[in-house]
Amino acid sequence: MGHILVTGGAGYIGSHTCLELLEQGYEITVVDNLSNAKRESLRRVERLTGRHLKLVVHDVRDRQALDAVFARASTPIEAVIHFAGLKAVGESVEKPLLYYHTNIVSTLVLVEVMLDHGVNRLIFSSSCTVYGDPASVPVTEDFPCSCTNPYGCTKLTIEQILKDVNRARPDFNVALLRYFNPVGAHPSGDIGEDPNGIPNNLAPYITQVLIGKLAELQVHGNDYPTPDGTGVRDYIHVVDLARGHVKAVEKLKENPGIVIYNLGTGRGYSVLEMIRSFERASGKPVPFAIGPRRSGDVAANFADPAKAGLELGWQAEFDLDQMCRDSWNWQLKNPDGY
Ligand code: NAD
Ligand code: UFG
Repeated sequence: MGHILVTGGAGYIGSHTCLELLEQGYEITVVDNLSNAKRESLRRVERLTGRHLKLVVHDVRDRQALDAVFARASTPIEAVIHFAGLKAVGESVEKPLLYYHTNIVSTLVLVEVMLDHGVNRLIFSSSCTVYGDPASVPVTEDFPCSCTNPYGCTKLTIEQILKDVNRARPDFNVALLRYFNPVGAHPSGDIGEDPNGIPNNLAPYITQVLIGKLAELQVHGNDYPTPDGTGVRDYIHVVDLARGHVKAVEKLKENPGIVIYNLGTGRGYSVLEMIRSFERASGKPVPFAIGPRRSGDVAANFADPAKAGLELGWQAEFDLDQMCRDSWNWQLKNPDGY
């Protein structure tokens, strides 16, 4: 099938994507510095698939080490999926240089080394955060882009850099995948999201409340112009998201140049709907209190995923209840993460 290099492959979305790629018969090498992941995630991916993958532990910004990965690959690397990077919005406001340096320099070094080795297919983890506060929903890929925090600005800047590289080198193929809100876990409950410290995101916060690690959820505002006043997002099952990457790998084999896809379900759910779905999944109430709005949050953001449907032959299959059941199953089986 081919050999794929996955940067950041030990992380949440990366580990689920490695699993799907291995199941499709791809050979995988992961480069991850384990700054936000554990080796155990990939051991479990190997156990679940019955297949082996190679993990090389170093920073993507380490050019010499990255060069050696390409030079010494057992079979030529034909495409790269670039997940590696930092992703916490709040932390990016506190430590902008860390975010710009990690996310942007890693991408520059990666693309330079790819070009040195004649590898011309790259899939990049972008985010719906590039749409800023969208004027309307659902958003299509041609909506105007903007950024409101350093994390989002790294995604927008990297998109621009990759567009420029493609303009100069039309044979360099890039898929910019704009993820909406990934939640859930593999249905086995053996791999999932393992945040450090107190989670920033809604789903892992709720599962930690349900398991008794946190006292109650703060709902960040109920005065938004949405049906129940709470924020609306397009939650997408991480397994669906992972399968979108397999489709993107296939797409790049057609040498399409630069392609951009929203990966979302096309349905928005509010914070209160999310709470109810987790209550159904766990059979327990989620204690919560209504708090003030969180700065930087938008009222509603959800995708029009039609383009990915048409051009990738991909669409999300799992519904919100399945996402919450799988998140809860992972939390129950792994109360302390990996
Ligand atoms: P994650 O933190 O679980 O995975 C990122 C991985 O990259 C980790 O394993 C980490 O150890 C590794 N890493 C970080 N910096 C590195 C470096 N310099 N060199 C090598 N490895 C490095 O995050 P995730 O949720 O799996 O996100 C993956 C990608 O998707 C990120 O680029 C993120 O910005 C993007 N994204 C995530 C979300 C989300 O809500 N989870 C939404 C949109 C986009
Ligand atoms: N929320 C709460 N309480 C919490 C956490 C979240 O009410 O404790 C609410 C938020 O206000 C928002 C919704 O739940 O309405 C979802 O919040 P998340 O933090 O889970 O997700 P965001 O949409 O804010 O952000 C996510 C990623 C960002 C990324 C953004 C757009 O965390 O990295 O999607 O891609 F930039």
